[in-house]
Amino acid sequence: MATGKQGHLPGMMPVVDSQEEVRHPTEWFYWNAERRCPRFIGITVSERKQSMLLDLSPDELLTTTRSVRKRLDFSRPVEPEVIRECLEIAVQAPTGGNRQTWSFVVVTDAAKRQAIGDLYRQGYEIYTQMNAPYVAQALQKPELAETQQKVKSSADYLAEHMHEVPVMLFPCIRGRLDGTSNLEQAGVWGSILPAAWSFMLAARARSLGTVWTTIHLFKERETAEILGIPFEKITQAAMIPVAYTLGTDFAAAKRQPLDNIVHWDQW
Ligand SMILES: Cc1cc2nc3c(=O)[nH]c(=O)nc-3n(C[C@H](O)[C@H](O)[C@H](O)COP(=O)(O)O)c2cc1C
Repeated sequence: MATGKQGHLPGMMPVVDSQEEVRHPTEWFYWNAERRCPRFIGITVSERKQSMLLDLSPDELLTTTRSVRKRLDFSRPVEPEVIRECLEIAVQAPTGGNRQTWSFVVVTDAAKRQAIGDLYRQGYEIYTQMNAPYVAQALQKPELAETQQKVKSSADYLAEHMHEVPVMLFPCIRGRLDGTSNLEQAGVWGSILPAAWSFMLAARARSLGTVWTTIHLFKERETAEILGIPFEKITQAAMIPVAYTLGTDFAAAKRQPLDNIVHWDQW
């Protein structure tokens, strides 16, 4: 697997030595700006260690953040501080009324990952059976068959190995949505999904792979029990497995033409 730009050291961010002397915040901002790092208000160099970033333009980052399953490196631990960095970026996302009623549960404990992996596999069984007619139909269409086959094989692999991912992230939002209007739902989902996607982009920039998954939600209550999430008050939006990737080159995906889906002024 090509490592692409990872090998181009000049394009990567240096790890700041945590022993480095404290700099004046103004100097820190300037120092950061030069290196295209996010600027964290009032935090000095000695307090913060910046991860190495891949040399990706904004458009490259946005178009190559794929669902990574078969290229997750289960053997390499993910440093908690890198997860924190991604979360600090994630919470720059918008929320309705700036309410910020989000929470993020980061799971690294092996027994909990095993238990959640088991629940995911139970959900995956249900999903596979529900989805079987659609998959069978897609496999008969030449234009869909190859992609669908790849997604299925990749999703099967992830289900089988879910407990091995070093980190699972659960983006959560306050409230339950049962019986609520579309207006309320849009406000709630819109206050957590952008942050979760920002987390995935920040992770990709740091050579981490992620996948948006929801299949554990067949067992949301059981997951809540394992993690101590108050189910009656808190909704889980997704579960994002996180691991370093095997190689860092990912391509843009093929999507249907814009003309099929974009309407100007009139549907
Ligand atoms: C709402 C949503 C739910 C998803 N749930 C799962 C899931 O439970 N398991 C999984 O392996 N992938 C899941 N995916 C990932 C999709 O399969 C993936 O985004 C799609 O195949 C396109 O691939 P790409 O993300 O690499 O472009 C989900 C994606 C979304 C947006």
